[in-house]
Amino acid sequence: MTATIIDGKAFAADVRARVTQKVAALKEDHGLVPGLAVVLVGEDPASQVYVRNKGKQTVECGMNSFEHKLDVETPEADLLALIDKLNADEAVHGILVQLPLPKHIDEAKVINAITPAKDVDGFHISNVGLLATGQKSMVPCTPLGCLMMLRDHHGSLSGLNAVVVGRSNIVGKPMAQLLLKDSCTVTIAHSRTKDLAEVCRGADILVAAVGRPEMITGDMVKPGATVIDVGINRIPAPEKGEGKSRLVGDVDFASASAVAGAITPVPGGVGPMTIACLLANTLTACCRKHG
Ligand code: GUN
Repeated sequence: MTATIIDGKAFAADVRARVTQKVAALKEDHGLVPGLAVVLVGEDPASQVYVRNKGKQTVECGMNSFEHKLDVETPEADLLALIDKLNADEAVHGILVQLPLPKHIDEAKVINAITPAKDVDGFHISNVGLLATGQKSMVPCTPLGCLMMLRDHHGSLSGLNAVVVGRSNIVGKPMAQLLLKDSCTVTIAHSRTKDLAEVCRGADILVAAVGRPEMITGDMVKPGATVIDVGINRIPAPEKGEGKSRLVGDVDFASASAVAGAITPVPGGVGPMTIACLLANTLTACCRKHG
């Protein structure tokens, strides 16, 4: 079997086009422009790339982008003071603090300082609780993007066996909640799971979010399953020879795509959907505020 490729890049372009259209209508009909504030502390190169892309795409779809770049030594109190300011700012509908934060800053304290209605990451404890109890919340962008692609591919997910490999607050746990809400039978597996391969082979939907390059191999995939690869791992170039650094997922694409029914590639799968969903969440935050 050769798997169907789920084209996250095209799907994300479609989501962005719909957001752009709605943003234009909001401006035309109500004079409103959604605004997204992104806060970056320090100079982590991967985070800088993400933040730049977020800002660029925010502007491209007609929204206001407010970027706050803080020194790596910024005291926690200063970051909390900035969040207070953004919470009170009428022009800001969404606030995202890029993670990870430097070690001297308490991540949970910072996330929970964001007004839940502006928490476009869906990481605030009250949004986590709302999602877990099936109530209207801000939904974390990466799992939301995965869910949109799964719904598009399958139609109904009801009754399917879903295995999520990874238990992070950003992806694994909210992904499991969303799949449960769509009536999947959900297993959360992780690095300590016994016989991980056997658990994975039971999955109609396999979501890999472990952060380990190419860990999920074809022998761990049920024939015909849908595989969603959340991993983005940069493999350094070999010190000698011609090779360049490569971007790979948590799934070994070559072996898994020979067994799966459908699979997301890396790059061009889940990655572009994350930012598209962030834009959609910012629009949602603006509409809910003024709705
Ligand atoms: N770092 C890696 N992924 C994310 C994300 O989805 N949101 C934030 N705020 N930081 C991240």
